[in-house]
Amino acid sequence: MAKRSTSFLCQICGAVHARWQGRCDACGAWNSIAEETTAADTMPATLRGGRRGRLIALESLTGTSEDAPRVQVGISELDRVAGGGIVPGSVLLIGGDPGIGKSTLLIQASAKLASAGHRIIYVSGEEAVAQVRLRAERLGLSGAPVELAAETNVEDIVATLSEGRRPALVVIDSIQTMWTDTVESAPGTVTQVRSSAQILIRYAKRAGAAVILVGHVTKDGQIAGPRVVEHMVDAVLSFEGDGAHHFRILRAQKNRFGPTDEIGVFEMTGLGLAEVANPSALFLSNRDSGAPGTAVYAGMEGTRPVLVEIQALVVPTSLGTPRRAVVGWDPSRLSMVLAVLEARCGIKLGAHDVHLNVAGGFRISEPAADVAVAAALISSLSGAVLPPDGVYFGEVSLTGAVRAVPHAVARLKEAAKLGFTRAVAPAAKGTAANGRDAGEAPLAVDAISSLGDIVATIAAKGSRRSSDKAQEG
Ligand code: TYD
Ligand code: MG
Repeated sequence: MAKRSTSFLCQICGAVHARWQGRCDACGAWNSIAEETTAADTMPATLRGGRRGRLIALESLTGTSEDAPRVQVGISELDRVAGGGIVPGSVLLIGGDPGIGKSTLLIQASAKLASAGHRIIYVSGEEAVAQVRLRAERLGLSGAPVELAAETNVEDIVATLSEGRRPALVVIDSIQTMWTDTVESAPGTVTQVRSSAQILIRYAKRAGAAVILVGHVTKDGQIAGPRVVEHMVDAVLSFEGDGAHHFRILRAQKNRFGPTDEIGVFEMTGLGLAEVANPSALFLSNRDSGAPGTAVYAGMEGTRPVLVEIQALVVPTSLGTPRRAVVGWDPSRLSMVLAVLEARCGIKLGAHDVHLNVAGGFRISEPAADVAVAAALISSLSGAVLPPDGVYFGEVSLTGAVRAVPHAVARLKEAAKLGFTRAVAPAAKGTAANGRDAGEAPLAVDAISSLGDIVATIAAKGSRRSSDKAQEG
């Protein structure tokens, strides 16, 4: 019998510690370390004995290997994020908060593929077969020939998968519920999650079947986060959204077979997840364009333009240190924009609280939102309403200059498609210097070269407005 040993593993990052401690040195998480018993030596005896290695054939980069045909799920928002379909033999991890809709998305994908004639196996470790069936029935998918199992032992699952026709896709929902005989820790611990994932990944590579692992991300660290398997899998997709909004965003965080900046947008409806082909229209659907402090940002997510509303509220503070609250954007970028407004444009916000919100719960990752944020801030501070038919984009540098951003034409075209007639954007290569693109610019562009230009335009409008009010009064 193998020797047993105890080790203390951080359930969030997987770091091994010699003894229990309250805080993990590696990732800084509190109360995340748990004791786990492992077989001290799980390496096969033949490997330990210093055997003579077998010769491996080395190959050249230029060799021909057949391009694995991707399996198109038929849900285009999912296919695009995966890089144009799912690669056979690859392993995808879909992470997300509990209840966000991972199981719903995957049962819909499974049903689509199964109806197209592929062999699809859906293993649920969380729900009973009856529950999965009930959900499928509610979604109108019960006719699809998906093969279901409620099982948590990885050895049993792999043995079952190896029988019969090779499946095109295996869904494991979720990896945290899986356990293997080879390790002794409780299901859900780092060791179990990692070992189970390893066995499933080995199966995927050997059999050439695509495997999708579902992973819950919890903030309290009670269940092993899927972070420990992120480096083992081929692609990591995160499914985001919040309870207050109906739409969900699928984002690629890592992808060995495709780009990582694409997003897929879905809407949670009574009939499951519906694809949103035009996310801008969804994000702008409840616009409040008559109030100061809102600006529409023409953004890009991968190859797709997305228009969202940025809302700012600038109010005199009652605290010693003013508040800076940001939802949906990088707080350090907000600090930078505020600092540039103060240093280069003379706008003092030190005695004001600043609240910034990206409407609809969307999260912006691009620096191109700087100009739109600045416009919303100035609008809120001055009380001047921005023109409702205008969009904003551009990156602000520390000198106060506004820099060009990629895909200016695509942003402008999307804005024009949604009925916007003007854009405040950098006087950029993308639009002006590149003559062909400039000719294509589908709406009027107010070219700006510095943040001061925006301040001047909005402030001029603001003072006109207040003088109008004075006359009325
Ligand atoms: P689920 O896929 O079970 O989430 P996860 O697997 O990520 O934990 O989704 C559960 C939520 O989705 C639940 O709160 C109800 C909602 N939902 C709908 O709104 N409509 C539907 O058609 C379905 C199936 C679920
Ligand atoms: Mg689920």
